[in-house]
Amino acid sequence: SAAEDSNEKVLVGVIGGSGLYHLDNLKFIKHVNPETPWGHPSSPITICALPNGTRVAFLARHGIGHSITPSNVPARANIAALKSLGVRVVLAFSAVGSLREEIAPGDVVLPSQVIDRTKGVRPASFFDGSIVAHASFGDPFANRLVRWLEDRVRIVLDEEAERIKTAGEQRAPPKLHTDKCIVCMEGPQFSTRAESQLYRSWGGDIINMSVLPEAKLAREAELSYALIATATDYDAWRPHEATVTAAEVFKTLQTNAAISRHVAATVLEALHDAAADGELLSEEAGSMRFSIMPRS
Ligand code: ADE
Repeated sequence: SAAEDSNEKVLVGVIGGSGLYHLDNLKFIKHVNPETPWGHPSSPITICALPNGTRVAFLARHGIGHSITPSNVPARANIAALKSLGVRVVLAFSAVGSLREEIAPGDVVLPSQVIDRTKGVRPASFFDGSIVAHASFGDPFANRLVRWLEDRVRIVLDEEAERIKTAGEQRAPPKLHTDKCIVCMEGPQFSTRAESQLYRSWGGDIINMSVLPEAKLAREAELSYALIATATDYDAWRPHEATVTAAEVFKTLQTNAAISRHVAATVLEALHDAAADGELLSEEAGSMRFSIMPRS
């Protein structure tokens, strides 16, 4: 039937960041490992089925065993591989540092802006050959998709708050922060205190090492892309506090990954349906038509 056919289509891709290497709350269908003109993706892509049969694609950005540093993630192959499967919408997860007091470790952030501190270091375009194209990137995330996610993520966090309370856990429930600005830095070392303060003065709210060039490539591929960031630490800007260590980041990753899986499991069916309706795609689909430079 038509309904079964549409369930076969993989319209939604999930990219997992540090701590999120599987969506093991979903049913495993198969692995695929497409070869693209930019090579193979970070790891074979897992095709999973949601309870209603809808298929989604999951890709571990740093490889299954976290063997790929942020600077070496094959972002072009990753985006091209997802696109080759028919993916139109990408939910990307990432562990981030917080540059603001009010964004506590464990909180979830849906950023709307990004500052690029990786420029010139990582290959950041599919258009480095014969075609010259300048994608619009003023709104780096798919606004319509981000707005759509906000309400749904809030519901998941309300449920989580209820669960924490009922279980009598002694921790603050995670909050949701929207319309924030993420700084993407080149690693692998964390920032100095001076850099961390500089990013705050620029208006940065959170910081990671891997949203770019991924989000730029998604835009060039006309995919609707949103980042769901989970804070792991306060980076290095707080004057009298120790600066971030990998061990500190690691400590919060497990709890954050559980939230990310919960978010994914809650939103994916509705997200697939919204993508199939075209409801979420109108901003990005066809956008590159206005980006190719004519030859004179
Ligand atoms: N990822 C998680 N925490 C980070 C930080 N403080 N800086 C850069 N990337 C991060």
